[in-house]
Amino acid sequence: MRLKNRLLKTPRARKRKNKRMAILPPSPANLQLCVQQLEAGKLIGLPTETVYGLAADATNGEAIAAIYATKQRPQFNPLISHVTSLEMARKLGVFNPQAEKLAATFWPGPLTLVVPRQPDCPIDPLVSAGLESIALRCPAHPVAQDLLSLFGKPLAAPSANPSGRLSPSLAAHVADLLPEIDVLDGGACAIGLESTIIGCLDDSSVWLRAGGLSRGDIEACLGQRLTDIPTDDEKTAKLAPGRLASHYAPQAKLRLNVSTASDDEILLGFGPDAPATAANLSPRGDLQEAASQLFAQLHALDADAVASNKTLAVMPIPQHGLGEAINDRLQRAAR
Ligand code: TXA
Ligand code: MG
Repeated sequence: MRLKNRLLKTPRARKRKNKRMAILPPSPANLQLCVQQLEAGKLIGLPTETVYGLAADATNGEAIAAIYATKQRPQFNPLISHVTSLEMARKLGVFNPQAEKLAATFWPGPLTLVVPRQPDCPIDPLVSAGLESIALRCPAHPVAQDLLSLFGKPLAAPSANPSGRLSPSLAAHVADLLPEIDVLDGGACAIGLESTIIGCLDDSSVWLRAGGLSRGDIEACLGQRLTDIPTDDEKTAKLAPGRLASHYAPQAKLRLNVSTASDDEILLGFGPDAPATAANLSPRGDLQEAASQLFAQLHALDADAVASNKTLAVMPIPQHGLGEAINDRLQRAAR
């Protein structure tokens, strides 16, 4: 008895005792529970045949911001959206003949296609990190398929590990790496390596990331060689975000750390000190809310600024938590 008491007081035992979340067998009741959590904007550990994903409703900006915060990604690197079928994918992205062929051949499976967003694509802009393209994948894992079918909307999911840690290929890895997340147990990932990513933005299909499907298989399907990431700056920025300093640039000039905008500037505020009439990333000063608003508000204000021949000014954003990623993107946009 005394030993048991002592054990309960160890940090590990305390952590386990306080842990609210769990490894869930993929029963119908647990799948329903996960759907309810996703609808409430929460994150779920999702088994796929490549690696476990940290999934959220791809149309909910605050849930997407929570993915970046939970993973502690230093920058907003765009996320893959998971779908049940090619039919569902076509409503989100524009499929050229090459993309159609690849999806028809390899989906469901370990292949992600980067395609232009449909004009009315409901996926939150933070998923695309401000780009006009979207990464789509139809996973083969039956539990991922069941959850996607029940949820009925795309799920954004990066690998379910904190930035810089190994990707998880077992539910227990997710429970260990992200103990606050509920994870559906789909067993060991059959592939255990992330998906291959191909860019299909124009006639030349581009090899963006090596993964669970080989280059040879893809080239055989297309009947043509894949292009490597171009060295031309503008194309690289669109295809491989994160490789260039400036990948999201508004048309209007942008000034940072501004408390009071001049007459020829449009102010993007942050926090309760911003003027009530200004656009505000988060009136309550919440960095997660600000992250979820960043790209949508920059796009809207950029259009206003161009129309009225003004420039943009952004109030200071604290450099902690998601503030680091917000400032990173703002600095790139201001160059
Ligand atoms: O197997 C996988 O792909 C796993 C499972 C969970 O599906 N997911 C995964 O996600 O590996 P993540 O976030 O670790 O990697 C996503 C990659 C990043 O390298 C990102 O830059 C790229 O996809 N990506 C996403 N959207 C993109 C876009 N619009 N253009 C170019 N690259 C994009
Ligand atoms: Mg990853």
